[in-house]
Parts: sequence; structure tokens; C-alpha cells
Amino acid sequence: DTWWRSKIRQDRKDRSVVQVQLEVAVVLAAGEGTRMKSQTPKVLHQIAGRTIIEHLLTEVHALSPKELRIVIGSGRELVEPHLKEVSPNSKIVIQEERNGTGHATQIALADLSRKGTVLILAGDTPLLKGATLKEFIESHHANKSVASVLTAELPDPTGYGRIVRDSDGAIEAIVEERDATEDLKLIDEINTGVYLFDIETLKEHVKKLKKNNAQGELYLTDVIKEIKDSGAKAMAILALDFTEILGINDRVQLADAAALMRDRINERHMLNGVTIIDPTTTWIDATVEIESDVTIYPGSWLVGKTKIGKKSVIGPRTTIKDCLVKEAASIVESNVTGAEIGCCANVGPFTFIRAGTKLADYAKVGAYVEIKNSSIGDGTKVPHLSYIGDAEIGSGTNIGAATVVVNYDGVDKHKTKIGNDVRIGSDTMLVAPVEIGDGAYTAAGSVITDDIPAGAMGVARGKQRNILGWVLRKRSGTKSAESARRAGATEN
Ligand code: UD1
Ligand code: MG
Repeated sequence: DTWWRSKIRQDRKDRSVVQVQLEVAVVLAAGEGTRMKSQTPKVLHQIAGRTIIEHLLTEVHALSPKELRIVIGSGRELVEPHLKEVSPNSKIVIQEERNGTGHATQIALADLSRKGTVLILAGDTPLLKGATLKEFIESHHANKSVASVLTAELPDPTGYGRIVRDSDGAIEAIVEERDATEDLKLIDEINTGVYLFDIETLKEHVKKLKKNNAQGELYLTDVIKEIKDSGAKAMAILALDFTEILGINDRVQLADAAALMRDRINERHMLNGVTIIDPTTTWIDATVEIESDVTIYPGSWLVGKTKIGKKSVIGPRTTIKDCLVKEAASIVESNVTGAEIGCCANVGPFTFIRAGTKLADYAKVGAYVEIKNSSIGDGTKVPHLSYIGDAEIGSGTNIGAATVVVNYDGVDKHKTKIGNDVRIGSDTMLVAPVEIGDGAYTAAGSVITDDIPAGAMGVARGKQRNILGWVLRKRSGTKSAESARRAGATEN
């Protein structure tokens, strides 16, 4: 047994006996996010269907702190209602002016009477994983630390606070980029902005902070040195995956974070038994659920509260938003929103399905068909070039190519009802409100304005007449006239 093996084993043993206990979590999110150049506050920008802060809060909630406080300021009129929605049990603390992370912490702790451990985080790190936080908390407790900072080694540490360690490897201080000497700037271990403190110790030291730095702010980071100097135990704990702590300050970092989140989400689904042919062009929101043996072809985007049932085939180039797709359905090159797609149903290519639509099992909706707020029965087919709006269609029915449900009279929308086993002829206009009985037919090209009883054939079109010899008389000398003459046509 090598020394490091036994050390790892001892570490694990220490951790396993420690109960993860978190009294309070504080998220600092009052900053302005100037570099986003946006009307939207930074933490409300979205990746993978959640706001930046919602990603972080989802992980923090999983740690079950007894109390969660969020410091907001800039853009609070938008941030506050969002937090009420995604984190209704958290306490919102307002920081009127941005005097630095130390100042934000002072305000957050001002009326806190709890004792124990507080976790402090920045609101703009959406990639941070709960598991990493949990390990951080475990190490903090196992080592009986009073102040711990989570660190990372970055390929390019520019802009971050640097971790200064003594010759024994213990943390001495955190020095901001702007306050760092050229020597210190060479350090590639940085402060992630995630900390654990004993609450009482932190309160005592955060009160004493001074603005003796280049930015003229109160730095939370200065507390580490003060606690260390007071003789209490402070630690720097290295996170293994530096991508988790990447903060978002501009749109380039927003896209980088989105791509990392995409890969992470796709990986989770693939490990759960989903085939993703091209993970780089498949974008799935964090909120989407997918069962096993689903296949997703390139260029697909699964959004919001979508659920995909097992063995379904999605894509290529398909967008599905807020839909329930049941087992073994197929959706090819289509855009589907707010719909329920039945088991073994077939959609696409080039189909647009809008909110309120329900396709029953084995339904088929084909090329260049738009469906809105309609129900399509079991095994019913709308195969080509149709618009169906506000309609209820029974089972076993076939809707001929280019049929249009005329649901809008220019002022109001009206309902259309089509029964079971109906055959709507191609190019039928169904002028709503109208009802077609079970087993009825319509003649191709009809404009149906009256109900058709069960079993009847509805014909509503001009009767055809042929004007013999017309082409020879009115278009003489054309190729058409020559061909007609060769075929035996005459002028009269
Ligand atoms: C901070 C750390 C730095 C670390 C980096 C990690 C300090 C002094 N420096 O630097 O060591 O490497 O984070 O990303 O803490 N905030 C407030 N109120 C304020 C100021 C900031 O709520 O008055 C919030 C911001 O919204 C943000 C977080 O605190 O979520 C960090 O603030 P920011 O100004 O981004 O600090 P950095 O300069 O990035
Ligand atoms: Mg920052």
C-alpha cells in the first residue's frame, strides 16, 4: 500500500462519518453584469431552459440548507419576481449599493441568528454541481475547518483572485488580480467564489473589513487572511473540474457555458440509454425527460417540459417544446409545441403542430401540414398539405391532400367536428362551424358549408362542362393546338 492510497482511504472514511450539515446558504447576485450589454439582468439569462441563477439554485436546494438567502440589487424588479417563482422559500436581501462581496455578505448576515456553517456562492456560476458542493462541505467538516474556499486551477487565471499558499501548502490569503504583483499573477490556482464559514466567526470578521484595495470595495476574500491570522483553521480545497466554476460575464462565456451544459445533459441521457447521433447539434433543456431507447437525430432541440416516451425517434432537425410524446412515436424534421403525440404516431417531415393539439395512437400527420388546437383520433391520417384548426376528428378517418379547415371568419374562430372513418376528398374546404358525420365522404374540391350526415357524400362544387375545340379556335398555332389536332380534335 502506497502512502497516498492509504491517505485517500482515510479521507473517504473521514468523509463518510461526517453528516452534511448546512445551516445557511447565501447567494450573492447583486452585481450589475455590465459586460452582458443587456436589458436583462445577468442572472436571468438562460441556458438549457433555465436562468443562470435557477441552475445554481437547483443544486443549492438539493443540499437542503435550513435557510437560503439571496442578495440582489441591480435589476431587482425583474430578479425578485423570478426568485419568488423558482425559490419561493428563500429570503431576499436587498443591497442598495454595490460596495463589494464583503459588503453584500455583511448585509446578508446582518439579522442572522443561526449558528453553524454557511455556504456562500456567486449567482452567476450555473455549471456548479451539487455533488461538488457536497464534497466541499464534507471536506470542510472532516477537517474541522473554520473558513474554507473552493479553488480551481485554470488554464488562464486572468481576472480571478489568486490563492496564495505558504510553504506547507496552507492558504495564506486571496489576492485579487488588480491588487496582485507580477509574481502572484503567475499563480494559476484561483478563488472560485464559493466558501464555507463558521457563521459566528464570519460575522465577527466581516464587520471589520476595510476598503484597502484597488477597487475601493469591501472584499469578502480578505476575511480568509484575517481568520487565518487569528489562529483559526482556514483551508483551500481544490475542485477537480474547473469547468464547473466558470462564471458568466459576457455573451461569449454564456455560449461557452451553454455548450458545456449541453454536453453534460446529453451525456446524462446517453448513459440512461438514449441514442444521440450527434451530441454537438442536439440541444436538450435541463427540464426535458427522455425514456430509454429513444433515438435523436442531428439538429434537434427539445425544450421546456417535454417528455419523450421510450423507443421514439426524433429528428433530424426537429424542435419539440412542452410536449408529451408517447412510446414509439416518430417526429421527423418538424416543429411541435404544446402538443400530445400518441403512441406510434407519425409526424413529418415538415409538419407544424401548435398548442392544444392531441394526436391519438397511430395517428399520422405528414408533409406541409399545420395543426392547431385540434384532436386527431386513433389511426387517423392527415398526410399532405393541410391546415387543421380548432377541429375534433374521430378515429380511422382520412383527410385528403390540401384540405383546409376554414376556422376563422375574419372575426371569430369556429369549431369543426369530423366523425370516425370519414373520407375527406382532396382539396376540401371545411367552413366552420361544420360537422361531418361518421363514415361520410366529401367530393374532392368541395367547399363544405353545411353539416354532412353520417354515411352521406357531400358535394359542393360547380358541375364540369367541356368546351370542345376551344384550344384549336382560340389558341391556334400553339403546341397545345398542334397536339390536340394530332389527337383527332377538331374546331367544332
Ligand atoms: C470575485 C472574487 C474573486 C474570485 C471571483 C470568482 C472578491 C473580492 N473577489 O471577484 O476572488 O476569483 O469572484 O468569480 O470577492 N456581488 C454582490 N454585491 C457586490 C459585489 C458583488 O452581490 O457589491 C456579487 C456579484 O453579483 C457576483 C459575486 O458577488 O455574483 C461576485 O462579484 P464580482 O464583482 O463578479 O467579483 P469578481 O471581481 O468576479
Ligand atoms: Mg465575477
